[in-house]
Amino acid sequence: MSPMRYELVTIFPELIESATRAGLLGKAVETGLVEFRCVSPRQFTTDKHQSVDDAPYGGGSGMVMSVVPLTAACEHLDAEADARSQPRAHRILLTPAGKRFEQADAERLAKLPALMFVCGRYEGIDDRLRPLMHEELSLGDFVLNGGEVAALAMIESTARLLPGMIGNDASLHEESHSAGVLEYPQFTRPREFRGQTVPEVLLSGNHALIARYRRQQALLRTREQRPDLFARLTLSKEDRALLASFDEKPEPPAPGA
Ligand code: ADE
Repeated sequence: MSPMRYELVTIFPELIESATRAGLLGKAVETGLVEFRCVSPRQFTTDKHQSVDDAPYGGGSGMVMSVVPLTAACEHLDAEADARSQPRAHRILLTPAGKRFEQADAERLAKLPALMFVCGRYEGIDDRLRPLMHEELSLGDFVLNGGEVAALAMIESTARLLPGMIGNDASLHEESHSAGVLEYPQFTRPREFRGQTVPEVLLSGNHALIARYRRQQALLRTREQRPDLFARLTLSKEDRALLASFDEKPEPPAPGA
């Protein structure tokens, strides 16, 4: 299978390159599962200072990224894909004004052959870049200095879904099984740490009971920490019983219960 191609338009290619050399992403590059192409809009400037931004029309503080070198960078990446008879990338603009990125977007984007992330910097981007994009995504309701960190988050969350990504098979199956709820609490040795002990049920060896405990804890955590997610869940009869048993007696199910 051809590698998933991630293309980036950024004035900080070294930021992306260092992140993509480390850990599982680095391994995925080595094994040819993913590939990266970074271009800087600076390569496409014509003035001696290689400026990629300019003062806003209409006045105001801050600078605006110019549409000209950004467009040239996107078109350069498309031309490269054409020259290699590869499909052109799906163009994504990173902006806090975009649609909020979620796991469902990671799943959708991971199915595409190539993604182009266009990273803005400074206070904004000339609005005329927007018609060149397939979509606009935000990492969340906060403002970063630029799109690079957001792009990296989207790269990591899509790459880990690719078939063949090391270690993803069993864990992805579990994740899809528990879609929409937060993770249950996990423990490893030692059994006691500063007075906190591992829940007895996890030492019981009773797999059905452990599964019940984990599901109950995942539901409780979601209700507590993310009421917005909890409200969107469709609870089964067993789920409601697990919550009710906690609400009556706020303890994990005891072994043999
Ligand atoms: N650029 C600046 N802030 C951002 C955000 N929250 N998401 C995506 N790109 C951004």
